Amino acid sequence: MATSKAKKDLDWADLGFKYRQTDSRFSSTYRNGVWSQGELLDSPMISVHEGAPALHYAQQCFEGMKAQTAPDGRVLLFRPDLNSERMNQAAGRLMMPQVPYELFIRGVEEAVRANYAWIPPYGSGASLYIRPMLIGVGENLGLRTANEFEFRVFVSPVGPYYKSAGLAIISLAVSEYDRAAPAGTGAYKVGANYAGGLLATKTAHDLGANEALYLDSAKRTYIDEAGSANIIIAMKGGRFVTPKSNAILPSVTRRSIMTLAEQHLDRIIEDRPVDLRKEIGDFEEMAACGTAAVLSPVGKVWVDGQWHTFHDNGESVGPVMQKVYDLLVGIQRGELADDNGWTHEVRID
Ligand code: PLP
Ligand code: COI
Repeated sequence: MATSKAKKDLDWADLGFKYRQTDSRFSSTYRNGVWSQGELLDSPMISVHEGAPALHYAQQCFEGMKAQTAPDGRVLLFRPDLNSERMNQAAGRLMMPQVPYELFIRGVEEAVRANYAWIPPYGSGASLYIRPMLIGVGENLGLRTANEFEFRVFVSPVGPYYKSAGLAIISLAVSEYDRAAPAGTGAYKVGANYAGGLLATKTAHDLGANEALYLDSAKRTYIDEAGSANIIIAMKGGRFVTPKSNAILPSVTRRSIMTLAEQHLDRIIEDRPVDLRKEIGDFEEMAACGTAAVLSPVGKVWVDGQWHTFHDNGESVGPVMQKVYDLLVGIQRGELADDNGWTHEVRID
């Protein structure tokens, strides 16, 4: 497909994180055990049967990725193999068919390429958010797996997830609701985990926080994760810790940050359960991380009726999180050497 090099006339620095309809989306259908070749569609609408298991029983999963423009104009994805792998783990958990990597990456690349005009330019601080999704469609009534599936990829140019630009300091409020049961679907990116989180997010907003912070639902003691991001902590005394749990999403961003911290920070790295109330006094810096959230330093957390503040009383970004952010974003934007081979170029011509 011929791709125009012209860009849309958007205020790239002020996009916010919201859906913007772009020109094309990729769609492939699974019927009788076979995926169709897939095609680019103009319409953002999906027409599905009223009995579709995606609608009634939440038989669906999704991914979140970003494409960024490098200083030399290349368009870069970040570790798309991990998103494909995670989508297939969710598909297996919800009894949906696997999406072969070849189909996944072709769908993502075609959707990005066809919407070249919508990819924010280098230096704007914005990126092209990519939303691959797998939904169970087709006629159904009883609780059983769908007989047809759609794999779709749409894109939308976005700015920062939390309101302010750049490295926004956010606040979290420990939720009274549980996100995921220990052997439930918490480790999978499935829509069912998120509908239940809407009220938790609203409750956090009512307390003046940006997001809910979930504790483990078995003991309500250990940190699980935030509503849309994993947690990382720089402890007083030098350790760099991420809470381990079977019920959290295995964040691509967090796994990458832990590797970068091991490679570039002079600190002991730990992936272990973190007892919030016992250990919060030892937190020097805390942050939430994810594709949408990137790395968002946490200035304060609401726990048992009071705020706990971290580095500089939550007034400024601490040096550890600033360094990790600079490394991560520098690699994602193609500004720093990609020694781990994480970026994946989408060829435009
Ligand atoms: N945790 C939850 C619940 C999420 O929705 C996300 C977003 O994808 C993350 C963590 C971060 O994961 P990733 O870094 O792969 O985007
Ligand atoms: C992402 O970070 O990609 C997500 O899917 C989080 C979502 C709640 C916007």
